[in-house]
Amino acid sequence: MKKKLWGGRFTEQTKESVESFTESISFDWRLYKYDIEGSIAHATMLAKCKIITEKEKKEIVKGLKIILAEIDAGKFKFKKNLEDIHMNIESALIERIGEPAKKLHTARSRNDQVALDLRLWVREQIMVTYNYLTIAQQALVQKSKEHFGVIMPGFTHMQHAQPILLSHYLLAYVEMFERDKKRLLDCSKRLNESPLGACALAGTTLPTDPALTAEMLRFDGICQNSIDAVSDRDFCMEYAFCLSLISMHLSRLCEEWIIWCNDELRFIDISDAYCTGSSIMPQKKNPDVLELIRGKCGRVYSHLTTLLTMFKGLPLSYNRDMQEDKVAIFDVVETVHAMLNIFAELTMNTRFNGEKMKSACENGFSDATALAEYLVRKNVPFRKAHEIVGNIVRECVRMNLKIKDLDLEIMKRYSPFIAKDVFQVLGVENCVRNYKSSGSSAPRFVKNRIAYWERKLNKG
Ligand code: ARG
Repeated sequence: MKKKLWGGRFTEQTKESVESFTESISFDWRLYKYDIEGSIAHATMLAKCKIITEKEKKEIVKGLKIILAEIDAGKFKFKKNLEDIHMNIESALIERIGEPAKKLHTARSRNDQVALDLRLWVREQIMVTYNYLTIAQQALVQKSKEHFGVIMPGFTHMQHAQPILLSHYLLAYVEMFERDKKRLLDCSKRLNESPLGACALAGTTLPTDPALTAEMLRFDGICQNSIDAVSDRDFCMEYAFCLSLISMHLSRLCEEWIIWCNDELRFIDISDAYCTGSSIMPQKKNPDVLELIRGKCGRVYSHLTTLLTMFKGLPLSYNRDMQEDKVAIFDVVETVHAMLNIFAELTMNTRFNGEKMKSACENGFSDATALAEYLVRKNVPFRKAHEIVGNIVRECVRMNLKIKDLDLEIMKRYSPFIAKDVFQVLGVENCVRNYKSSGSSAPRFVKNRIAYWERKLNKG
């Protein structure tokens, strides 16, 4: 009978169906680098603590490095009957160097081992996400800069509300991505405690030094409760939540741009290289990339839901259910990275039609609020001003005119405070020019903000 590494008490061979059902090597092979890094640190600690000899440690480290190179080169054969990445590597080490390899698993369990590998993997992926966000921000800032001065309708309820600068709109997403980045760093800080030393769940009777492995693996410290250390996957859920928020932000923007490239609006033109056609309608050019980013958002949320559901009511400490965490976290990360990557590319390959935006803006009385504020400056209470302008708009609708095209005499009928200077506030250009509050679409604020982001994002 072929014995498993854990097969001491077993008298029967594991069924193949069980091996297939319980294996995780088909997906957790992705952890190999971290598993080996963790094992090298663990062996070094065991030697320092005189639990293994210096010579044994050297052989272990050498063997592990060879295995790492083999996996890197795609030459390593992963075996399903060895269950997971941890036992695939340990078995390969035993095959290669023999006796000393059998000491590697001293004062360690796969429970703290997998908790470690996953923390290291997530810690690194968080920085990858962070960098993708920076690239997306840079693309948006670049477009804001190129199109500084372009005026577009700002919407509420999907109706024209007030005119805004296109740059101001684009920078709204830069702010969102910045919050996403801060959330990631915060998540990274919280996960940065080493679970090694927890072993199965209760620690060990051997004289180990978990602080040493923690330091070698660049953790800020060690988990203070061994039961929690092997049970905790909060960091996966936090990360999946951060990724969900990122994809939610992306999906909002994609929805807008999908609308923006329809024939009615034509606010944007996405380059052909980033669109797809229809198999039946020859004239079609579809924004499938945007639609897929929007669509994949659902898949991203599903992984967060999977993780939360999997851990709901799960008793302490390690349970095999937890193996499924990796299916969710690997896919959610891969999906969001692909979304961010293609989004930045597409943005750089999109033309924004300033003319279309401006002319769309002329309709819909988006200068009405500016007129009300004009009256406020003439000491008319805002509620009263709101009503006066509402009446003027009604007149304009009746006469099919824009407010700025209305005769001054007609306007005066609605309020004696309206004078010739009203024409300095009407019209979309005046509206934008006259914004004052910080954070508004006022050109000088937007310009400052573009400069701010350029400085910040180029710092690296
Ligand atoms: N493949 C397992 C996982 O991903 C490793 C831990 C196995 N631990 C155990 N006690 N069976 O969760």
